[in-house]
Amino acid sequence: MITKIDILPDDLQVHFSGENSEIFPNIWLRDHAKDEQNWDKRSSQRKTFTASLDLNLKIKNAEILENGKYLSIAWPDLEKPVQYSFEFLINNKIDKKRETKSKLKIWGSNEIHQEIFVDYNSILSNDGFKNFLKSLHTYGFLVIKNCETNLKCVEKIANKIGYVRNSIFGGLWSFESDENKADSAYTQEELRPHTDSTYSNDAPGLQLLLCCDYDAKGGDSIMVDGLKIAKTIKKEDPQMYDLLTKINVKGNYIGDGVFLEAERPIFKLNKNKEITQVSFNNYDRAPFRFEKDLTLKFYEAIKKFDLLANNKDYQWRHILKPGELLIFNNWRILHGRGSFSGVRKMSGCYINKEDFDSSCKMNGIN
Ligand SMILES: [Fe+2]
Repeated sequence: MITKIDILPDDLQVHFSGENSEIFPNIWLRDHAKDEQNWDKRSSQRKTFTASLDLNLKIKNAEILENGKYLSIAWPDLEKPVQYSFEFLINNKIDKKRETKSKLKIWGSNEIHQEIFVDYNSILSNDGFKNFLKSLHTYGFLVIKNCETNLKCVEKIANKIGYVRNSIFGGLWSFESDENKADSAYTQEELRPHTDSTYSNDAPGLQLLLCCDYDAKGGDSIMVDGLKIAKTIKKEDPQMYDLLTKINVKGNYIGDGVFLEAERPIFKLNKNKEITQVSFNNYDRAPFRFEKDLTLKFYEAIKKFDLLANNKDYQWRHILKPGELLIFNNWRILHGRGSFSGVRKMSGCYINKEDFDSSCKMNGIN
């Protein structure tokens, strides 16, 4: 609750129960006015022409309403006072404590068991879907069992979360090993753990891979938690970790009539120094030049990273049976596939990261 307010010359200090307070600049409060004149409730869009506001505007009057649930401010340029809720203000504290990452389960191979298998029918109900999303958010990947072995089923699952993303590989895809394609994904050789689309500025958020047919030897799917690798490197060699959060690594895709390029650190951080994206693909890494010292440090770091990614203690391995769909967060989990011989038909698609995030938020998960 709001317990007290102090009108300062250019700011309003708001005291909350629990003895904490926040100073909000007047211009910020005015810009965030959510009354009828300044805010379109239906579309959640600002109507205010912010550029027309006086940056030094003063508060005419302010008072606490409904035992601290609301704050009401009278502004010189508005006829009616504007209300601000306690929730809105407390959620906009600069140093708001975030507990997001603690909800994630960072795992090694022996910490993953049956909990990552879910049944297709269980995700059809609202509650079931919510649980599925929560687990996917927590572990970074899941296997959906008992799917129909066709593209329609992949599309149906994608549309429950967001929508199918189009890319150079199309929207929905089906593939067997194909020597004629430019990408390594079509071979029968072992595919070492990697993330997809390091050459894209907006790498796909989720990848869905449905096994439609399997009459082969080998070909196990490999999942590696990029956050586990980060944790190990940070603990064992903080300087190396620091380098991996700062140095941009460029990826490219050249072939099939396109030339795509993008770059970012292997561990991309937000302003709270939390990892928001893990990107690693040694196949698609583009030519680069650093000074000699940095070059050696860079190779030491990617050696460490890739040896961990290829360490069995970090790998969950499973041969997908027909009807099993592997879904994983491509911004966190590295994926790979053991070598195989025989027939292995897969279908799949990508979903944008922002649409996965949106679905999580709509279901109260973040
Ligand atoms: Fe891949």
